Amino acid sequence: MKRMILLGTLVGVVGLASWLVMRGPKSLRASSIKVERSEARVARGKYIYEQLADCEGCHSERDYKKFGGPVLAGMSGSGTVFPKELGLPGRIAPPNISQDPEHGLGQWTDGEIIRAVREGVSRDGRALFPMMPYQSYAKMSDEDVESLVAYMRTMPAVKHQVPPSKVDFPVNVLMKSAPQPVAGKIPAPDRQNQVAYGKYLVGMAGCETCHTKMEKGAPVEGMNFAGGEVFRVPGLEVVSANISPDPETGIGAWTEERFLDKFRGYRNFTDENLPVAVQANFTVMPWLGFRKLPDDDLKAIFAYLKTVKPVRNKVETHPPVASKL
Ligand code: HEC
Ligand code: HEC
Repeated sequence: MKRMILLGTLVGVVGLASWLVMRGPKSLRASSIKVERSEARVARGKYIYEQLADCEGCHSERDYKKFGGPVLAGMSGSGTVFPKELGLPGRIAPPNISQDPEHGLGQWTDGEIIRAVREGVSRDGRALFPMMPYQSYAKMSDEDVESLVAYMRTMPAVKHQVPPSKVDFPVNVLMKSAPQPVAGKIPAPDRQNQVAYGKYLVGMAGCETCHTKMEKGAPVEGMNFAGGEVFRVPGLEVVSANISPDPETGIGAWTEERFLDKFRGYRNFTDENLPVAVQANFTVMPWLGFRKLPDDDLKAIFAYLKTVKPVRNKVETHPPVASKL
């Protein structure tokens, strides 16, 4: 009898384990939407892709030897493999999202692209590693996500193959519960409400993700926007700044003008005069994309950041570590 129970339990455990491993993520069939393309939508989509959400920052081969790691010419959306120095769980490879029919999204339907972006499910139904910020993009308005697709359809095909991501156990199993279907219509944010609009922009731009310290893949509680997350590429390291409104260790004492100037300060850089990346200036902060954000958007972002909880946390963004690596 005891043995039977034991056996039963064992079968149960094995069954549960294999169900966890085999099951797919929660997902619905991709919508059959056919996105209408207009000039205004393509422009809005380009702004989201290149600046606000910096899709190309993750999805392209970049030149990390130059300040800001500009996207290599002709490689926007090419796909890449993240450097292992970032300490991610396995080989994480943002795929080719150009219009290339073989390696990119050329054969995907509009609905499949929208589902991947907002719900975290690939064309074949596999769950995407949540570093792809679909949990934030779930709030992307219908108009914005359709504009994004309208723009992406105008992008050239980049013939460039990257290997698929290979996420380590147990993250590969756990991450299957991250995708969530997006239900109903998502209206555009109200631009008259500066703080709400700023919150929307901050969500699309991933500010909180980079500016919150992570432990075991999860943000440390109570440290939102307080910085301290470390990013490495071979030989270089940078720590995200405290952008919570703490007056001493964050940006609480900054005026709106100082905040805007910080972004505008990068507008003089061109592809030709970008400085060489050294430990003292190395960054993953998407200054090259964000510097072009319209002033109204930067003001809204600043207004929202002023409303989050101030956290005291002194950060040295550029520790002198290059020699250690
Ligand atoms: C912080 C990095 C990051 C940003 C920003 C990002 N992505 Fe991704 N994206 C990824 C990673 C990593 C994957 C692959 C996950 C995997 O393989 O499980 C991915 C997967 C995808 C996929 C699925 C492709 C496929 O072949 O399955 C699409 C489509 C996509 N991203 C589009 C976008 C768009 C559009 C944006 C901007 C709105 C964007 N991504 C921004 C990291 C990022
Ligand atoms: C990919 C990661 C990443 C994202 C996304 C990101 N940041 Fe940063 N940010 C950093 C890092 C790393 C630094 C420190 C190095 C530097 O100053 O460039 C930084 C620095 C800053 C600074 C300078 C602070 C100081 O004390 O000088 C400000 C302001 C800032 N970020 C605001 C933002 C805002 C607002 C957003 C969203 C719109 C954002 N960041 C998104 C990584 C990121």
